[in-house]
Amino acid sequence: MIRPYASEHLTPLIVEDPERATALRTEAESLPQLPVNSAAISNAVMLAAGYFTPLTGYMSAADALRVGREMHTEAGLFWPVPILNQTTDASAIADADRIALCDTNRDGNPVFAIQQVTSVDSLPEDVFLQLVEQVFGTIDAEHPGVATFIENGRTIIGGPIEILDYSYFPQEFADTFRTAVQIRAGIESRGWNRIVAFQTRNPMHRAHEELCKMALERLDADGVLVHMLLGRLKPGDIPAPVRNAAIRKMVELYFPENTVMITGYGFDMLYAGPREAVLHAIFRQNCGCTHMIVGRDHAGVGDYYGAFDAQTIFDKGVPEGALDIEIFRADHTAYSKKLNEVVMMRDVEDHEMEDFVLLSGTRVREMLSQGQSLPKEFARPEIAQILMDYYQSL
Ligand code: ADX
Repeated sequence: MIRPYASEHLTPLIVEDPERATALRTEAESLPQLPVNSAAISNAVMLAAGYFTPLTGYMSAADALRVGREMHTEAGLFWPVPILNQTTDASAIADADRIALCDTNRDGNPVFAIQQVTSVDSLPEDVFLQLVEQVFGTIDAEHPGVATFIENGRTIIGGPIEILDYSYFPQEFADTFRTAVQIRAGIESRGWNRIVAFQTRNPMHRAHEELCKMALERLDADGVLVHMLLGRLKPGDIPAPVRNAAIRKMVELYFPENTVMITGYGFDMLYAGPREAVLHAIFRQNCGCTHMIVGRDHAGVGDYYGAFDAQTIFDKGVPEGALDIEIFRADHTAYSKKLNEVVMMRDVEDHEMEDFVLLSGTRVREMLSQGQSLPKEFARPEIAQILMDYYQSL
């Protein structure tokens, strides 16, 4: 099986030992408590679940700046996006060297992790904005990822963490939330050797379905890991339970049996385009996948990134040999009215744009809100119905 990223073994930071967990909970009662933002919680969930192997906790400001500039930590690990505990106000933790982190995504803000504080730095605004620009390619506060990153604050609390639970994900998404450890075990028990990961934050339409089928066939893979984001999205994106239902229905009806594993991970969307695509590849390698699909505008939003920037970063930004996972590069994919099938545009050079059935996300939302069915060339009717029910319930 493909080895975890830069490691021989996964290093999930969840505390498995019940005695250790009890000791930490007792200790937490006498520690300064810091309510942390959703991004820091989801970073911890990813660390807990082994997805961010080999990181051992939140990055320091020095690591973050180096990652911003060079996509490497101070210790020389290639890493594309800072993994941070940011705050607007560190006064509650003063000079503490251990702190209890409280989960603001759950009622009562329970303690979910203990952090060993090894650094607290408040970045000057210009330095912070430079970091934002490096990670997101823009400092435009209209960019949803940039807005959240800025809102989360310029004070960076670095240090290792021990994590007590996976926040709200296992309860809310019992069928779907899986750790990297569980996914590796699932792959192993299926006896799959070549596994292609499909990242998604959307319901899967015909183009997505065919992308997975093309990758399966062209890579001669044993299976697809449909790995959906279960954390926070920008307003207007479709909530995880609806996507989950739509994806499950599509796989049930339109994929051969035992070719797809449907799972999800607890992370908030960054919308960081190319840099997020590299992060996606790292944690899919940690899941045991040998390949990952990167198509058009992967992890993008608006017009902030070029349609294929998230593919070219793997040529220009990733050092040779850093990743073992390989990228399956997909061109813009859509239904061809000439051929009556979904195709990658680069495979059909004789086509004009009007030969394809293309609908923007905005148009799809408009149609569903008005109770109009989506064309069957664009979405499977059963999936369109689930989405229509959701839009009609708003
Ligand atoms: S993402 O933010 O998770 O990347 P989305 O769920 O829409 O968004 O896309 C999942 C994957 O499918 C990404 O790799 C994306 O590039 C790819 N993709 C989505 N739609 C198309 C399309 N029409 N043509 C090619 N690739 C696509």
